Amino acid sequence: MSQTNIRGRGSRITGWATALPDDVVTNHDLAKTMDTDHDWIVERTGIHERRWGKESTHDLSVESGRAAIDRAGLTGDDIDIVVLATTTPDKQCPATASTVQDSLGIAGGAFDVNAACSGFVYGLAVGDGMIATGAENVLVIGTDTLSNITDLEDRGTAILFADGSGSMVLSAQDGPSNIMSWSLGSDGSLERLLYAEHHGGKLQMVGKEVFRAAVGYMVNTSRDAMQKAGVTIDDISLVVPHQANIRIIEAAAKRLNAPMDKVAVCLDRTGNTSSASVPLAFGDAEADGRIQPGELILMTGFGAGMSSASAVVRWDP
Ligand code: COA
Repeated sequence: MSQTNIRGRGSRITGWATALPDDVVTNHDLAKTMDTDHDWIVERTGIHERRWGKESTHDLSVESGRAAIDRAGLTGDDIDIVVLATTTPDKQCPATASTVQDSLGIAGGAFDVNAACSGFVYGLAVGDGMIATGAENVLVIGTDTLSNITDLEDRGTAILFADGSGSMVLSAQDGPSNIMSWSLGSDGSLERLLYAEHHGGKLQMVGKEVFRAAVGYMVNTSRDAMQKAGVTIDDISLVVPHQANIRIIEAAAKRLNAPMDKVAVCLDRTGNTSSASVPLAFGDAEADGRIQPGELILMTGFGAGMSSASAVVRWDP
């Protein structure tokens, strides 16, 4: 399913921010408790360190959400809706977005979206739709605390998954949306490749098959989103992929004909933070001056489901 915004009322990213737990866990730390080593992890994944924190999904969401609202020059009163993309809500219910809404003093509504590692791009598409139908400002947050659903002694998954958060404020503008297009996918027949059961279940993964499927999904939804936006890869200044594995990112970039100097990468420092990884990688690239007003961004993700999501965004904060 994909879409271009055809209404007269669009959205613009006016605020953005990220948050990470304080506690850094390096590959060398992991090698003390499991049969692995730094070089193996770097060669297979590109990850050097990650954060596993005591902070909850609520805590990280409030930190990045508050900073994004500040950056937009707004207050909680101005936000109509909180959309929190997460696979690791703090409780079965209520939605973690509700407790975030309260902590940020937001008057409007709040709900969670679970599309695993594609969640943030799904959240942007949802937020853009809410703006198109009347909201003034929507806070889209992507937060995951995957250390809570990872067996931290399983070398097959513990080396990959981590905690983090990133937020963006979407604000209404007249005319076309700066979320120029999106392409969202799901193939539930592949559920067995990556899942965690309720009641304390930890992530189970068939790594090689996830790898293969991931590249195809990122490429397909990216091409679809670019086609819907009427652009090609040459028009894109920054590709912001889900930060799962550097080899997945390189393989997808190659098939999209995107040179790696156009690609945002932060997984060496963050690991795979699921819903947080696209805004974390974006925040990192933006802070480094790698995107300028008027330029186009391709955000692309994939994850458990298997879900997939891409969006073309005009950067004009
Ligand atoms: N340290 C050292 N050795 C390890 C290891 C670790 N952390 N994890 C596995 N190994 C071993 C395996 O036991 C295996 O040993 P064997 O050959 O003696 O049986 C060997 O390394 C190769 O394992 P394999 O699973 O084939 O490695 P791989 O090249 O597929 O890499 C992943 C494993 C997990 C890094 C890789 O499959 C991957 O990244 N997949 C995608 C996962 C992903 O992105 N998930 C999130 C999606 S949102």
